[in-house]
Amino acid sequence: MNPPRTDARRHHDPDVRGFASDNYAGVHPEVLAALAVANGGHQVAYGEDAYTENLQQVIRSHFGPTAEAFPVFNGTGANVVALQAVVDRWGAVICAESAHINVDEGGAPERVGGLKLLTVPTPDGKLTPELIDRQAYGWDDEHRAMPQVVSIAQATELGTVYTPDEIRAICEHAHAHGMKVHVDGSRLANAAATLDVPMRTFTAAAGVDLLSLGGTKNGALFGEAVVVLNPDGIRHMKHLRKLSMQLASKMRFVSVQLEALLARDLWLRNARHAGEMAQRLAEGVRAVHGVEILYPVQANAVFARLPHEVSKRLQKRFRFYFWDEAAGDVRWMCAFDTTEDDVDTFVAALKEEMAR
Ligand SMILES: Cc1ncc(COP(=O)(O)O)c(C=O)c1O
Repeated sequence: MNPPRTDARRHHDPDVRGFASDNYAGVHPEVLAALAVANGGHQVAYGEDAYTENLQQVIRSHFGPTAEAFPVFNGTGANVVALQAVVDRWGAVICAESAHINVDEGGAPERVGGLKLLTVPTPDGKLTPELIDRQAYGWDDEHRAMPQVVSIAQATELGTVYTPDEIRAICEHAHAHGMKVHVDGSRLANAAATLDVPMRTFTAAAGVDLLSLGGTKNGALFGEAVVVLNPDGIRHMKHLRKLSMQLASKMRFVSVQLEALLARDLWLRNARHAGEMAQRLAEGVRAVHGVEILYPVQANAVFARLPHEVSKRLQKRFRFYFWDEAAGDVRWMCAFDTTEDDVDTFVAALKEEMAR
């Protein structure tokens, strides 16, 4: 499946992996194979193809009979499209201060979606009904943007995971105030692997209204989907997707990737593996004196605090990012292709650098 390792067109070493991001990983071979299967011949463009049609059944098998998927190119696009569908011009989105939509989407929710974000600081990336209440007020106050949706990420940007009960409580609270609930599920599979429950348990069955469902970090080449779980009050998704520049003309190639991940258990195998590697990494790191793990390791990320100069030296050997450079905080991410050897070699290097 993969090209020969000596291929003259290859400009990188396929055996080198780091801990920078699950987006640094390549494409799972089963997804590449599925792309090849979908190739050839003509199919109707813009989503009326056989692969997108089949994806709808796969999505319903995961999320229930009312679920409908709208494939898009990327996670930012999924969030911007989904949130526009539930927010009026005078409305607003309540989210964690650390939310990807707030800190990592280049202002796209504000500038492309025209969305006002009402942010709340959180200790671990997770909202609670109490935290939501810091922004959930003033629906009749024309001086304030009207809170219309709560957006949470599962797993969060800080690698933490909501329990199904926590999400249920958020949904009940939001709905009691007439607000919808959106889940940024760019790592939904990782959360399901950790919780060891179907994705439906902590989305549709917990009351979530709509979802950005990730594919890229789970082994796709690219591609995510907005999944509408509860169609009540969700407006004009198709139009919103197009005007937000997220309508793929050759949609079959987005849909077939999601189908390859979700139709059987590839999504879970990949997510479980990434989670296991993060646990292995956390275990190794805990044994290194002077390195502090910052948040519960519940998905595929380990956040740690260590001396700045140690991180700088380690970065010469492995790719990873500072999360808060001034504080000495770093993020180490595992992916579906991280190996035990990668983790063990990294932990050994960390020990070495800490001892220098
Ligand atoms: C929580 C979260 N949401 C969404 C995304 C999707 O971003 P992108 O637009 O890069 O696909 C990411 C990617 O890092 C993410 O971490």
